[in-house]
Amino acid sequence: MRVGILGSGLIGGKLGTIFARAGHEVVFSYARSEQKLKVLARDAKGQARAGTPREIAQEADAVLLAVHWSRIEDVLNQTGDLSGKVIVTCSLPMNDDNTELVVAHTSSGAEELAKMIPKARVVATFNTVPSEVLFGVYEAKRKASRPSQVYCGDDQRAKELAAGLIRDVGFNPVDAGPLRIARYTEPFALPVAQLAYEGKGGPELAYRFEWLRK
Ligand SMILES: NC(=O)c1ccc[n+]([C@@H]2O[C@H](COP(=O)([O-])OP(=O)(O)OC[C@H]3O[C@@H](n4cnc5c(N)ncnc54)[C@H](OP(=O)(O)O)[C@@H]3O)[C@@H](O)[C@H]2O)c1
Repeated sequence: MRVGILGSGLIGGKLGTIFARAGHEVVFSYARSEQKLKVLARDAKGQARAGTPREIAQEADAVLLAVHWSRIEDVLNQTGDLSGKVIVTCSLPMNDDNTELVVAHTSSGAEELAKMIPKARVVATFNTVPSEVLFGVYEAKRKASRPSQVYCGDDQRAKELAAGLIRDVGFNPVDAGPLRIARYTEPFALPVAQLAYEGKGGPELAYRFEWLRK
């Protein structure tokens, strides 16, 4: 599958690298230096290259949106038309200093994004774990008990595609329902971040839901 990365920073850079290692064709875009995108593509050691948001909008089967909330408008202006595209967003609607959600409870970043690109098919996921854990999850993907990764969206086929990417990284995808559930999954990222960055165990932290009677 062709996966385009919009925002090749801490989380987009790592997820793009893992997608390439898992066998996808990856295009890294949207960083402040093209050199950074080229280095990411080279180091991914799979089928990966640097590109532009516009190329991604035209060519990708799935698009990972991994930019700060304040950059959403700018990146969408650069992509152009995203009609029909599967947009996997891990972007949280945080304020400029990343201390508070600016959208929550009655809406979510994912729902507001879907309003901005109504013809795209938005799935919210990868937003509830710190980026530091991702390579470890990928390396442990053969183990029997995988960590969970919640996802939600309104388009079933887009959700199946996103669930495949979640599996490729090494998580067990947990379908949390329609996109409006992102208003509850996005705030869940904050206690996870608190544990990861302020807790004693460090940031290589994931979570797992268990159904005791399954
Ligand atoms: N990091 C995490 O653990 C994590 C976990 C869950 C959710 N998230 C969410 O994921 C999103 C991305 O987070 P992140 O930590 O990956 O952020 P980040 O490291 O700052 O990455 C953002 C990317 O956007 C690029 N960018 C910023 N301003 C730009 C501009 N003016 N022109 C072109 N490119 C620009 C950055 O370029 P440079 O590479 O040049 O800086 C970087 O590649 C956020 O919404 C965050 O809430 C992050």
